[in-house]
Amino acid sequence: MAEFWAVIPMAVRKVVTLGNPVLRQKAQPVRKITKAEQRLIDDLLETMEAYEGVGLAAPQVAVPLRVFVARWEGQTYGLINPVIEWHSEEKVKGTEGCLSIPGVQAEVNRLLRIRVRALDRNGNSVVLEPEGWLARIFQHEIDHLRRAPSPGGTPPLPGSGG
Ligand code: NI
Repeated sequence: MAEFWAVIPMAVRKVVTLGNPVLRQKAQPVRKITKAEQRLIDDLLETMEAYEGVGLAAPQVAVPLRVFVARWEGQTYGLINPVIEWHSEEKVKGTEGCLSIPGVQAEVNRLLRIRVRALDRNGNSVVLEPEGWLARIFQHEIDHLRRAPSPGGTPPLPGSGG
């Protein structure tokens, strides 16, 4: 029955909502990528799908680590220890929602373009330069790692369901 264990399914975790202190906690950097962190990314993706979001940060499943996932235009992202190392001056407004603040939407000003350096699921260094809505999703999720959400506040939450 070894085959059974080879296909352990990913798991949908519970998304915590506003009021849960983990959402206000500053997420900690991942020091070492082990199976547990890879599993976390897999579960975040599965959970994001189940909740029909476009992004999800680890604190939203009560894990205070600097990890988030996103899916946009058929592309899937799982990023560890993301840092915004450059951004455009230009900002754009858009309406966001947040899986941790169900039913609330807020208009949020976001940087049009950012450059993010991070590690991928395998520990490889990656640099991404999202623009527009993907840049918005990344900023929303990175806000979660900094302690957001705060609807309508500075870093806002909502949107798009992250
Ligand atoms: Ni969110």
